[in-house]
Amino acid sequence: MKSNKQRPIGVFDSGVGGLTNVRALMERLPMENIVYFGDTARVPYGTKSRATIENFAMQIVDFLLEQEVKALVIACNTIAAVAGQKIRQQAGGMPVLDVISAGAQAALAATRNNRIGVIATNTTVNSNAYARAIHASNSEALVRTQATPLLVPLVEEGWLDHEVTRLTAREYLKPLLADNIDTLVLGCTHYPLLKPLISREASGVVLVDSAITTAESVAKALAEADLLNEGGGVPDYRFYVSDIPLRFRTIGERFLGRSMDQIEMVNLG
Ligand code: DGL
Repeated sequence: MKSNKQRPIGVFDSGVGGLTNVRALMERLPMENIVYFGDTARVPYGTKSRATIENFAMQIVDFLLEQEVKALVIACNTIAAVAGQKIRQQAGGMPVLDVISAGAQAALAATRNNRIGVIATNTTVNSNAYARAIHASNSEALVRTQATPLLVPLVEEGWLDHEVTRLTAREYLKPLLADNIDTLVLGCTHYPLLKPLISREASGVVLVDSAITTAESVAKALAEADLLNEGGGVPDYRFYVSDIPLRFRTIGERFLGRSMDQIEMVNLG
């Protein structure tokens, strides 16, 4: 039986993109055990309705609670945007961290002119979740959101430095740059991989990588709850998915930045 501190952190996403969060967690908290769930059979969530996403999210949380996790990380912006509250209820008192709260705080800390841009999926943009999270701390801030759904398949294709991606990003960023934003939240699991390209297209704008800021807030929450794993030994990383599609390992390892050893398929539906 594992002590509370040795129990894994549960990280989940609609698919493979949440591995950017796992990567940031591995770097920030190298002693922690991690269980990841990616709903690869039902991705994308970014175009689905609130009710469907809530329903899927509840199934994932139940699965992770069965794995005896000590904290939950909602790595998917779309899930955090529409199901964050339900997930927190389901999780009881356990720490639940999410990319939107962390990204909103990091954007507020970074902006100098109070003009913040957010790029995300359609569902995240329609939910207005980033603007609400930012305005809860600073009602004066101007928040400009832009749905950028085409960037998701371009990243999965590996076109991280491709002319098509550059032109797509340039077109999407036009209205945000015209609004003089000085900070841009990469509000989707996939976008941190486009950081070099986006920073060239939006030079002078600070990019907020929600994977890094979320890892920071996980570290803080675990320390406050006295749940940091201090024991030595090699950490255990387990990856669960609802389907193993073609090229899953190749794409996953691109997001994770290292090899994925234990991948298992589970059926939640
Ligand atoms: N993980 C999703 C997000 O961060 C992007 C992919 C999807 O649409 O499911 O919003």
